[in-house]
Amino acid sequence: MTLPETNPTHVEDLDANTEQKQRLAWWQEARFGMFFHFGVYTATEQDCWHIFNARQSPEEYFGEFEHKLTAEHFDARELVKLAVRAGCRYIVFPARHHEGYCLWNTDTTELHSVRGTPKRDFVAEVTEAAHEAGMKVGLYFSLLDWRFQAYWDGPTKDPVAWRSFTDYVHAQVEELVTRYGKLDIFWYDGGWPHEWEIKANEDVAKAWRSKELNAMIRRHQPHILINNRSFLPEDFGTPEKQLIAEGRAWELCNTLAYYWGHSPFDNNHKTPQGILADLAECVCQGGNMLINVGPKPDGTIDPWQRHVMEQVGEWLGKYGECIYGGEAVTPGCLAPWVITRRGDDIYVILSRYPGDSLTIGKHNLPFAIPGEAELLGHGITLTVEESARNYRFNGLPDTPPDPLGNVIKFKAQPLKTERSTCAIGGSDVNAGA
Ligand code: GLC
Repeated sequence: MTLPETNPTHVEDLDANTEQKQRLAWWQEARFGMFFHFGVYTATEQDCWHIFNARQSPEEYFGEFEHKLTAEHFDARELVKLAVRAGCRYIVFPARHHEGYCLWNTDTTELHSVRGTPKRDFVAEVTEAAHEAGMKVGLYFSLLDWRFQAYWDGPTKDPVAWRSFTDYVHAQVEELVTRYGKLDIFWYDGGWPHEWEIKANEDVAKAWRSKELNAMIRRHQPHILINNRSFLPEDFGTPEKQLIAEGRAWELCNTLAYYWGHSPFDNNHKTPQGILADLAECVCQGGNMLINVGPKPDGTIDPWQRHVMEQVGEWLGKYGECIYGGEAVTPGCLAPWVITRRGDDIYVILSRYPGDSLTIGKHNLPFAIPGEAELLGHGITLTVEESARNYRFNGLPDTPPDPLGNVIKFKAQPLKTERSTCAIGGSDVNAGA
């Protein structure tokens, strides 16, 4: 066998890939994280783009809303506890959103929560609570800041103003990665160009000096994971609200209703079943899910959000082995089930309950199946009938034993790793079994 030719660059690439794989290991095992959206926009009840949509000046906007962000019941330990109860294995807390209000004690601007109404350093409180609980913690940070004319003008119109704006952004990031102990994730947002003359991704990354910025982050936090929103690919992709699997590590950031921030007008509340189905779908396609919670201006969590997340966590407490560390078996299917695996353990997650038996086309299960399977968590043994094209799992109760979702588990024998194709509808029952 001839080995591929190597040169120093190639070896460096290989090392970088191995390092990245190692960095990502805990995160890919974790699969499920909790996102928070909280800022002055919380008090607008109109979500995080309010200052932009209402076309208010920063003076008007912060004058009207900042004092309403009382955060009097904000309890970082409670947020972390909620994440634990929800079965989330990491959290991502916002340090600064596009509006520019900083949730930490920054030296870069006077517009921050320690000087303002709350008189609290939320980043300190949340990172400390996470560290105390052994919860992995990341920070969300928007590169843009709508208060700066330089952002609207972009890098070419007034390069001096742009430089000073990006120096401001870099200084903020440096504070965040040096003042709060170990950070596990740096979650950028808001790097998109306004009506600038440049549009190509690499030019946008150059404008923010993202390479320099990310190298600085890694100098201080060598193990940190960085998302792709500084316009460099970095460690993971971030499809938003819509599950679009990527050919590498990725995480769907998803809402509990429609908005990111708290709002009484947002009544599209998702159900625990829906959230769990989304999570299973992500895992079955090799991704993570970051589910968002939006605390109220007083810092408490809407009871409905708490309730949904607690139910999700209860389910994960019983059946989480199909999610944590779960990997893809077959690519996304428009079938009433999804399949994940952990080593030789295969899980068929039934988002729509099939009744007393389930038939799955063999092309979705690229390995041999023993004659028996188990209905996870219910002590029920199922028999598996094999025909030319299908496997049929018999012995399921007529009605779903768990209203939030049920899981069939069995051991693959022997496990082949290659992916198979997935037909719409999932089984081949009409194809002459
Ligand atoms: C979008 C929105 C932003 C939100 C983010 C979460 O980029 O602009 O407001 O925080 O998505 O992914």
